[in-house]
Amino acid sequence: MNKLKLSLLLISLAALSCNSKTDTQLRLDKSEKQLTNLRNTAMEANNIPRSIHKDGKVRWIEIPYDWTEGFWPGTCWMMFENTKDEQWKQAAIASQKIYEAHKNLTNDHDLGFIFNNSYGKAYQITKEEHYKQVLIDAANSLITRFNKNTGTIQSWDVVGNWQEKRGWKFPVIIDNLMNLEMLFEATMLTGDSTYHQIAVEHANTTLQNHFRPDGSSYHVVDYDPVTGKVVSKVTAQGYADESAWSRGQAWGLYGYTMCYRYTKDKKYLDFAQKIANFILTHPNYPKDGVPYWDFNAPKIPNEPRDASAGAIIASALIELSSYTDKKYLKNAEHILNSLASDSYTAALNTNGNFILMHSVGSIPHGNEIDVPLNYADYYYVEALMRMKK
Ligand code: GLY
Repeated sequence: MNKLKLSLLLISLAALSCNSKTDTQLRLDKSEKQLTNLRNTAMEANNIPRSIHKDGKVRWIEIPYDWTEGFWPGTCWMMFENTKDEQWKQAAIASQKIYEAHKNLTNDHDLGFIFNNSYGKAYQITKEEHYKQVLIDAANSLITRFNKNTGTIQSWDVVGNWQEKRGWKFPVIIDNLMNLEMLFEATMLTGDSTYHQIAVEHANTTLQNHFRPDGSSYHVVDYDPVTGKVVSKVTAQGYADESAWSRGQAWGLYGYTMCYRYTKDKKYLDFAQKIANFILTHPNYPKDGVPYWDFNAPKIPNEPRDASAGAIIASALIELSSYTDKKYLKNAEHILNSLASDSYTAALNTNGNFILMHSVGSIPHGNEIDVPLNYADYYYVEALMRMKK
């Protein structure tokens, strides 16, 4: 190759890489514009946006407790990281304060989603001791749900809830893997290995009991809390007990990639790749990379998509690619290109001022079908930030 050709090639490569950076930044800028309106509404209401109602008005988090309450402040912290605009920091602080007292709740497993994504980010960014203490308090509450017989943290309480009607005693859901990140962090912050050990035991038990040979996962595994034995493998939010609920596959992929980050145990990395390959090579995985709400939903292609699952998968694949194969980065880019298109990104001042359209909360419960969700936006912004970094 002569010098001129080589220079032209280098210039084109540089231009390409500039463009891809610009794409990510443009997407973050567009997201910020949209979310600024949501921030103003939320600050005025002193509330936390979760989704929208049928009439398009913002649906706020459920009172007194909502598993999604940490995603909005978490998104505000990421926007602050991205822009250094103090208004995002103030919005994050004001909104996470609303539920700070929930750090002491011991009746639900979602404390990791709630506190790691908000107070955890707050501590990483500001290094303020108070945020660290809140995270540790929440981790102490979460580990009260660990049962030595089952080797897992209990996800949902059953007595008096709909789970009791299903006859469950000690349900553990695949989503629970995501709460382990806060436990790994708690050990790093305190030097007390208890949190880390519980996280590892939960991850290992889940690896053993939650997955099928093809790498797909059950949503719910119900245990006998006394003998520790598995009683049933079923679903709550998927199409069928034997189907692959898309967000569940996304939680598994993200969860084991994250477990590898903290443990460097190769079995988690291998398993994350197995889940990735299940998702990416499934015959029902759509060309645009944004899954239907369940891989086995009966009327595919006439089934709702779940942009939240797409965003979680994209964010997880970016991290996975950093430990393994760069092909996962391409897959993530492809999903993000789709999510950033008009097919999923809402026009400014529409969609209740959330970024992404077309997510699904729970079809079997008739809840939040084809709507924006605060956690879809959270993982989309996280994926963009990971791309930027
Ligand atoms: N963690 C609840 C859900 O993914 O819907």
